[in-house]
Amino acid sequence: MPRGESPRRSGRHGIALILAVLFIGTVLFRVFATGGAAVVQPIAFNHLKHTRDLQLTCEFCHEYVRDGAHAGLPGAETCSVCHRVPQGTSEEAARVTELLSDGDPLRFNKLFRLRDDVYFTHRRHVALGGLECQSCHGDIAEMERPPTRPIIIPSKRSDRMGFCLDCHREVGESLDCNACHR
Ligand code: HEC
Ligand code: HEC
Ligand code: HEC
Ligand code: HEC
Ligand code: HEC
Repeated sequence: MPRGESPRRSGRHGIALILAVLFIGTVLFRVFATGGAAVVQPIAFNHLKHTRDLQLTCEFCHEYVRDGAHAGLPGAETCSVCHRVPQGTSEEAARVTELLSDGDPLRFNKLFRLRDDVYFTHRRHVALGGLECQSCHGDIAEMERPPTRPIIIPSKRSDRMGFCLDCHREVGESLDCNACHR
């Protein structure tokens, strides 16, 4: 104990230190154990309203999902088709129109990203394989608020390969390392 410091004060420092360690530990645990920080979006988008009520197809907003590697996310241009003028009565819909009139690009964020050296295409799985979006993305299209983490594909990187391999094994598709690691 440094000279002049009372035992009581250093006791408090001790408690503060323990709390700080616990706090940092909790943050690190969330980031590493769940595979990343929560994903935040510029707008609380409501899939259900657009897919069920308005009957928009997935391709309307995820343009390349049948013929590309990446499905693509929509931005200001797509939302402007309707929201250039006010739609509905909710505050969040009003905010979309306001952001668009300010020239905001409405950049949405992906929930997860495969490593660049892993080969995956939507074309192969959706157009050729005929798989439903749900088999890899769960019921995101029926959600009323954006999820902050992927629903089915594991957030945790070390669990991801197992997700791909489980299905490939089940349907008799490639387990060859070079098919995915090119
Ligand atoms: C084809 C037209 C159309 C397109 C394209 C469209 N919307 Fe909408 N959106 C609507 C309509 C109509 C409503 C109001 C529905 C209601 O209130 O029942 C709405 C409602 C909303 C709401 C409010 C939802 C709620 O919970 O009340 C948000 C947020 C929203 N849209 C965001 C977006 C974003 C972001 C995009 C672009 C990615 C987009 N919309 C593209 C027509 C569209
Ligand atoms: C009107 C536009 C619109 C339509 C139609 C739409 N989406 Fe989306 N989608 C979005 C937006 C905006 C986001 C990002 C915000 C969010 O997650 O809600 C998104 C995100 C997603 C993601 C998350 C991707 C990731 O980062 O992991 C999936 C999966 C998805 N949509 C699937 C679907 C499916 C399946 C359909 C059709 C049944 C569909 N969407 C229809 C606008 C749309
Ligand atoms: C729900 C089942 C399922 C999941 C999950 C899945 N796949 Fe596939 N995969 C398939 C099917 C089915 C095909 C064959 C499609 C066709 O051409 O008919 C395929 C084909 C492929 C091919 C082409 C293989 C070859 O012979 O060249 C690659 C590469 C691939 N998948 C990568 C992945 C990766 C990476 C993941 C995980 C991120 C993944 N897959 C997850 C079902 C799945
Ligand atoms: C076999 C699994 C699988 C199926 C089926 C599948 N996806 Fe995906 N999806 C993925 C993977 C893996 C990623 C991440 C790709 C990356 O980061 O390179 C992804 C990413 C996305 C994204 C984020 C933007 C992007 O392009 O990366 C959207 C949106 C999306 N998918 C929509 C859809 C829709 C809509 C369908 C159905 C028409 C669908 N997906 C079917 C596995 C799948
Ligand atoms: C069907 C696709 C697929 C096949 C087949 C496959 N992998 Fe993977 N592998 C992946 C995906 C997806 C990841 C996770 C990528 C990420 O971090 O986003 C991965 C990750 C890895 C990693 C990093 C592990 C980690 O914990 O980060 C290694 C090492 C690896 N794979 C080796 C192999 C070897 C060796 C084989 C053959 C025995 C193989 N893979 C076959 C898709 C595949």
